[in-house]
Amino acid sequence: MPAERQSLARRLQRATALPLRRAVATWPDYGRGGGTAKPIAMPTQTRERLLFVRRWLAHPLRVGAMLPSSPALVDLVARNAARAGDEAILELGAGTGTITAALVARGVREERLLLVELDDDMADWLRRRFPAATVIRGNASRPAELVPTAWHGRIGTVLSGIPVLRFSLADQRTFVMQCFALTGPQGRLLQYSYSPVAPLPVRQLGLARQRLGVALGNLPPGFLWCFTPAGEVPTKVAAGREGSA
Ligand SMILES: C[S@@+](CC[C@H](N)C(=O)[O-])C[C@H]1O[C@@H](n2cnc3c(N)ncnc32)[C@H](O)[C@@H]1O
Repeated sequence: MPAERQSLARRLQRATALPLRRAVATWPDYGRGGGTAKPIAMPTQTRERLLFVRRWLAHPLRVGAMLPSSPALVDLVARNAARAGDEAILELGAGTGTITAALVARGVREERLLLVELDDDMADWLRRRFPAATVIRGNASRPAELVPTAWHGRIGTVLSGIPVLRFSLADQRTFVMQCFALTGPQGRLLQYSYSPVAPLPVRQLGLARQRLGVALGNLPPGFLWCFTPAGEVPTKVAAGREGSA
């Protein structure tokens, strides 16, 4: 991330950190073991947002967004990621599962979802929220080293929200090679990003790319990119609910 943006992110984080940290820490259902207040029932979405904000406060650059993706971005991503058939989807940086839930709502069976998340608390949340999915707590920058061999060859789509734009070129190369080692040459890597330019350098990495859409309703607008090994750009994926796989 350029130094200017990095310092803007730090300043924003400093300005909001204290009041937000107080609010989150004193929320009765949220404190972990602290406080004597009786827990109150909160809607899942509220709990999810609180968790997200709390983890963003702890690791702003890593989490990358203060709140889960907006409905506009979730819809764009899920519409393009869910496709008919038996393929498994590997979701990298699943966060609190906002996009995961939209995939399930579109008919993707949880059993076909392999979710990777670096943050311990978010990974625990994902395990509770999607008990039939496989959740791995780990660093998704080298996905092939995390994914159990039983999944190799089953994954058709790698869906990523991790900050690949900030990786070095060498790390981007490793990441891309490992993604396509998991999917095979017919697979695809979908990456959502706030960057209007492709978040991976296609020429250096031997990739073809397609911009699948932009979610203007997200703040900032979110872009969805499809990467494939060069020469293998699939046509835009049609929207639609899947049958059960
Ligand atoms: C922009 S958030 C997206 C979260 C969620 N998918 C959503 O759309 O609301 C990026 C997520 O990636 C996770 N993340 C960042 N770097 C990661 C890495 N190297 N490995 C695994 N997860 C990572 C963060 O903890 C965060 O949950």
